[in-house]
Amino acid sequence: MKLWGGRFTENTAPEVEEFTSSIGFDRRLYREDIAGSIAHATMLAEQGIISPTDAKAIREGLTAILQEIEAGKFSFSVALEDIHMNLESALTERIGEAGKRLHTARSRNDQVALDMHLYMRRAIVAVGEDMLYLLTALRDVAQEHAAVIMPGYTHLQRAQPILLAHHLLAYFAMLARDFRRLAGCWVGADMMPLGAGALAGTSYPTKPERVAELLQFGSLYGNSMDAVSDRDYLLEFQAMASITMMHLSRLSEEIILWASSEYRFIELSDAFCTGSSIMPQKKNPDVSELVRGKTGRVYGHFIALATVLKGLPLAYNKDLQEDKEGVFDTVDTLRFSLRVYADMLRSMRVHSERMRAVLEDDFSNATDLADYLAKKGLPFREAHAVVGRAVQYCVQHDCVLHDLDLATLQRFSPLFAEDILAVLAIENVVAVRSAHGGTAPVQVERQLQAAAELLSAYKEEQATRTARVAQAEFVLTK
Ligand code: ARG
Repeated sequence: MKLWGGRFTENTAPEVEEFTSSIGFDRRLYREDIAGSIAHATMLAEQGIISPTDAKAIREGLTAILQEIEAGKFSFSVALEDIHMNLESALTERIGEAGKRLHTARSRNDQVALDMHLYMRRAIVAVGEDMLYLLTALRDVAQEHAAVIMPGYTHLQRAQPILLAHHLLAYFAMLARDFRRLAGCWVGADMMPLGAGALAGTSYPTKPERVAELLQFGSLYGNSMDAVSDRDYLLEFQAMASITMMHLSRLSEEIILWASSEYRFIELSDAFCTGSSIMPQKKNPDVSELVRGKTGRVYGHFIALATVLKGLPLAYNKDLQEDKEGVFDTVDTLRFSLRVYADMLRSMRVHSERMRAVLEDDFSNATDLADYLAKKGLPFREAHAVVGRAVQYCVQHDCVLHDLDLATLQRFSPLFAEDILAVLAIENVVAVRSAHGGTAPVQVERQLQAAAELLSAYKEEQATRTARVAQAEFVLTK
């Protein structure tokens, strides 16, 4: 017998039962659902809506069910549709009458909304932990290779030499913004929807502030129809996740290039690569390829949810059940990607001598030759043209700028003097870019320092949210 079976005379068609059921994926919300129900029952008893004895029986029954689930002994039923009805019938089976009072002043619509808010807060904390793990790794690896110089690119053509640390800290900066965006998601997740009922609110003298207090929510929804229909906070998370995956995907593209025989800038640890079943020599950067590939599915989940929502009239519609699988998969994919990236970066080997060799055989110091002339009074545009001709000369003579002797350089401009060779040296080319945000060691040192400070601020922020989520779990233990 269905919990809602009263007005029905026929059984649900088996394929409809299968199609409408969400227990296959929303069973993942069992902790949230139980915490929400205990908080709800506690409030109902405090408000005199159910008896204290019933509330106690509900609390004990649900706690026992929680243990059963965690021990892998609970059997979920498709016929009972979703996590809410699976738990409610198990409770009633266990404690009788009192179990049937739990759903007073509540609908599955505000119940599932509460579960997803609880889930999202936990996910934000978990993803935050993983982001900090990767941010710390990026900073550490940058620090470790603080002296390594590599070619910097534009258009994937060698442009100017940079510090590898500068390159890695650019990713630190992107992911730090992702952490800030993640923190922004907290505000929407931290709102308490219970009390909205099916859509219009409830006639019982409930006290949603009390439920919010028990579950450590920062605020309440002010409109019951919004409370049961809002999925913005999930979409916000999906958008944040898409941007983060995009950053990881860009990094992946570079790791893949750098690990190729053409670049040979890095070597990934065997632990993060796989081989080929036919080509014995292969060592493939699968982790990076998969992270790049999985970015597609995370984008897909964002688009899917945005599309589910775009035509929905208020308030609850079953379409909203489609919010879950994508969000769960996004959380799993994102968490895994962040963690594996941190471990992979820490274990990669950097071939600084190869980067160096590439730079020695290259025109990455051409800008500096032009700057030299400009600083001696030649307008930059003319200096640019002079150096352009020098580069063309080198190309024809199969050499690079720092191979030219002073006499040859002076054929392009009389302004060249003895000091030019020091200017063209790669270390110098890096060191002179010492204005704010540049690649010079002094600036990179400042970035490393700033990164350390940002990390400790973020860790404090993270600890506050972690504590809130942990306190919300108290309802499960006392
Ligand atoms: N499984 C449903 C969901 O995920 C729970 C809410 C069902 N509400 C309803 N009126 N059918 O959205």
